[in-house]
This record gives sequence, C-alpha cells and structure tokens, in this order.
Amino acid sequence: MSDSNAWNARYGETPGMFGEAANEFLMEQAHRLRPGMAALALGDGEGRNGVWLAGQGLDVTALDWSATGMARAAALAAARGVALRAVVADATIWDWPLGQFDLVAWIFVHLPPADRAAVSAGLRHALKPGGLLVLECFSPAQEGRRSGGPRMAELLFTRAIVEQEFAGFEVLVLLEGAVRLDEGPKHQGLAEVVRAVLRKPAI
Ligand SMILES: C[S@@+](CC[C@H](N)C(=O)[O-])C[C@H]1O[C@@H](n2cnc3c(N)ncnc32)[C@H](O)[C@@H]1O
Repeated sequence: MSDSNAWNARYGETPGMFGEAANEFLMEQAHRLRPGMAALALGDGEGRNGVWLAGQGLDVTALDWSATGMARAAALAAARGVALRAVVADATIWDWPLGQFDLVAWIFVHLPPADRAAVSAGLRHALKPGGLLVLECFSPAQEGRRSGGPRMAELLFTRAIVEQEFAGFEVLVLLEGAVRLDEGPKHQGLAEVVRAVLRKPAI
C-alpha cells in the first residue's frame, strides 16, 4: 500500500528517513538558481529539499500528501529560519496553478504510471515558460538493491519515461546509472537512478 496514511506511518516510525541535508543532485544545480525564483518541492516529505531551496533565497512551496511530513518540513524551516509554504495535498488531484514556478524539484517521488502522467501534466502547466525541472528517481536496475526505492517495478523511472513525460522540454542533463547515496538511513550505498534537468520551452 502506498497512500498518505502509509507515508504518515513511515515518517512516524522513522523520523529523518532521508536525512535533513538536501539531495546532492539538487544541490549540484545551485548555479541555476537565483534568489526570488518561485520553486515547488514536489513530494517533499520532511522538507529537506524545500528548506534547502528556501535557504538559497527561493520562494518555496513544498507539497506532500503526508501531513506528518509537511509538519516536519514546517518545523525544519522554522529551525533554519527560512520561509516555506507547506501544502498537504495529493499531487495527482492538486489544483496546479498556471505558469507559477521557475523550478520544480521532483526528488524520489515514484508514482504509478497514470498518476505519474497526471502529475507530469500538472507540472508542465505550472512551470513558467523557460522553467526548470530537476528530477532524481530510482531506475529499474535498482530492483533487488537495498539502498532505497519502491518495490513495485512500475513505479521506477527510465530515461525513456522522462523523455516521454516531458516531450518538448529541452534536455540539459539526462543520465541513467549508478551513484552512491548517503541520505539518511533509507538511502545508503550504491544505487541505480535517473537524474534529469529539463527546461520547459520559452514559448
Ligand atoms: C521517497 S519519499 C521522498 C521525499 C522527498 N522528496 C525527499 O527526497 O526527501 C516520496 C514522497 O512522495 C510523497 N508522495 C507520494 N505520492 C504522492 C502524491 N500522490 N501526492 C503528494 N505526495 C506524494 C510521499 O508522501 C513521500 O513523502
């Protein structure tokens, strides 16, 4: 089962599952960020990525369907002294605003194909022209590894899925391969991932 209750239970049992530091690949994109940019941290869990973006001077909305996760995100933002808009919502049925965000961070959010398509469409709608998507997710080669990720194969990402969901976007980075994760107790060790930075067309 994967729903908001399941995620609330996971965060309840294991605080800091993915650590408090932001995702390394997202942090590597710091040179693309400017203070004042509007960012959406999608499926932001306990807020590590949204809080880091806010610390870079961005105007951040963190969205997750786990109320437990978003309460922790708000607490982490307060502890770091940054502003964060924490939204508890199901991304598949969220009322995605039109042309609102300069950046969407999609970090380890694994969805069934129909949900993934709905969220991708929402994201396409909500990015400004020229806006960026930064994505890291596990790939099928991760199956059987213990360094993180979902058990259901249909939730995993490939380069081809990224190209299909975001057809028409400019590819700035698109890689599928092995990286070493060190993100809290649940993301440790060699892992097979897809990493992407894509830009929505300017018109
Ligand atoms: C593996 S965790 C990653 C959390 C965070 N992005 C990070 O890297 O620390 C996946 C997150 O996606 C959220 N999520 C999954 N499906 C969702 C949906 N339909 N709407 C909103 N959040 C969702 C979960 O609640 C969970 O917090």
